[in-house]
Amino acid sequence: MGVPNEVIESAWQALEAGIINYQGRPVGTVAARDLEMDALNYDQCFTRDFFVSALAFLMKGEVEIVRNFLQETLKLQSSEKQMDCYKPGQGLMPASFKVDHSGKEEYLIADFGEHAIAKVAPVDSGFWWLLMLRAYVKATNDLSLARTPEFQRGIKLLIDICLTTRFDMFPTMLVADGSFMIDRRMGVYGYPLDIQALFYNALRAARELLVPEDEYIDVIKERLGHLAYYLRLYYWLDVDRLNEIYRYKTEEYGIKAVNKFNIYPDAIPEWLKDWFPDEGGFFVGNLGPARMDFRFFSQGNLMAVIGQLASEEQSQSIIDLISVRWDSLVGRMPIKVCFPAIEGRDWEIVTGCDAKNTPWSYHNAGNWPFLIWLLTAASLKTDRSELAQFALETAAKRLCKDNYPEYYDGKNGRLIGKEARKFQTWTIAGFLVAYELVNNPKHLELISFPEDDVLIACSQELPT
Ligand code: GLC
Repeated sequence: MGVPNEVIESAWQALEAGIINYQGRPVGTVAARDLEMDALNYDQCFTRDFFVSALAFLMKGEVEIVRNFLQETLKLQSSEKQMDCYKPGQGLMPASFKVDHSGKEEYLIADFGEHAIAKVAPVDSGFWWLLMLRAYVKATNDLSLARTPEFQRGIKLLIDICLTTRFDMFPTMLVADGSFMIDRRMGVYGYPLDIQALFYNALRAARELLVPEDEYIDVIKERLGHLAYYLRLYYWLDVDRLNEIYRYKTEEYGIKAVNKFNIYPDAIPEWLKDWFPDEGGFFVGNLGPARMDFRFFSQGNLMAVIGQLASEEQSQSIIDLISVRWDSLVGRMPIKVCFPAIEGRDWEIVTGCDAKNTPWSYHNAGNWPFLIWLLTAASLKTDRSELAQFALETAAKRLCKDNYPEYYDGKNGRLIGKEARKFQTWTIAGFLVAYELVNNPKHLELISFPEDDVLIACSQELPT
C-alpha cells in the first residue's frame, strides 16, 4: 500500500493554510489551527514546531519562508548581556513569536517562555535554529547567509550560552524541568537525554557553519568528543548492561569506582526487567547522582541515531528495540514521546498532579505523530526502509481522517488525545517530511550527520 496522492495534497494545503505573514512575507507557521478550541498560544509560531515545517518546505524547494524565519528570529535572539534574572540570557532564542497588528505597523513579539505555562526557558530553541540553518545550507547549497557577520555572531552567542562555565562536572548540559518539547513538569530536569542529543547535533551543525579558522571550532570539537564518549558509555542500556547494574556494588569512592554514579540496583523498575528484550538497547532518559531514569524517550534516542551520537552498533540496536517493542512504543500511531507512563503516587510527586499529563496521555507516554519524521529518518539512516514505510502507512491510515491531532492517548495510541488540538501544524509537517523522506531518501542529508570518530574520555576516567 502506498499513501494516496489526495492525502498528501490535502496535507500540503493544510500546512500552507497555517503560514504566518509578516510585512508581506511568509515567516513561519502557527502551532495549530483548530477553530473549535481557544487558540491560547497555539496561534504563535514556535521555533521547535517550525523546524518540522521548515524541513517540509525545504524538501519541496520552498526555501524563502525558511530564510525569512532564520533572519527574523536572529533579530529576536536575546543579545544584551545582563545580570537581571527576569530577562532572557544573552544568546537565548525565543520559544515562539507572534505578529502584532494592533498599530499602523506590524511588529514581531518574541516569547522566551514568559507567557507559556510555568515560564520555562526554551533551551532547545537555539538548537533547532542551528539545525534549521544547517538544513537550509544543505538544501540550497549556499553558505553565504550563514557566513554573514550577523549569523556568525548569532551562532557564537548560542555557543557561549551553552559552553559557558557553570557548576558542572559532566560534559552533559544541566537544565530545569520542561526545557524542551516536554515543556511541563515530567521529571525531565537535570541531564535529560533529549537535551543532550539535541545539544550534540546542534554543536555539530555549528562546527560546519562557523568559518573554518574560527577559534570556537576547537572548543566545539573537544566538547563533542567528551559528549559522545560519555553518552555512549554511561547512558547506554542493553541486557548485559542491565545485568551489570543489577549486580552493582554501591558506595564506591574515587576514580576506580565501577558504579560511578552510585546507582542502587533496587532503583531498577520492575516493568523494565520483563519488558527489556534480548535484542536491542537504548539510551536511558537521564543520568545523575544516584539517578538513572530508565524510561525510553523517543526524541532523544532517534536524534542520537540521525546525529550519530550513537555508534553505528548502538544505532542499529535502538532501531531493533523499537521494532521488537513496536506494540509498546508505537502501537496505532508513531510514536510515544516516552515509555512507560508515570502512574499513581509517582505521577503525583513527579508531575505535581498535572491533570493534562495523566498516565498514557500528552507528555506522559502519549503518542505524538509529529515524531514520525524522526522515526522515518532514523529508520532510513540505519537501512531499515521497510520500517520507515510501515510507520508512514500506519500514520496515513488515520491522520488525515482525524484532522491531524496534536497527540493520541492510551497504551497503544488508539484514542485522539483528550485535549489534543486538530490541525496541529507539526503533525501535518511531520507526516509530509516522513513521506518526502521515504520517497527520496537523499533528503536525509539535510538532517543527518556521519560518524565523527572523536571520542574523548575525561583525563580522570579509566577505561572500563
Ligand atoms: C505544547 C508542546 C510543545 C509545543 C507547543 C506548540 O506546549 O508541549 O512542545 O511546542 O505545544 O505546539
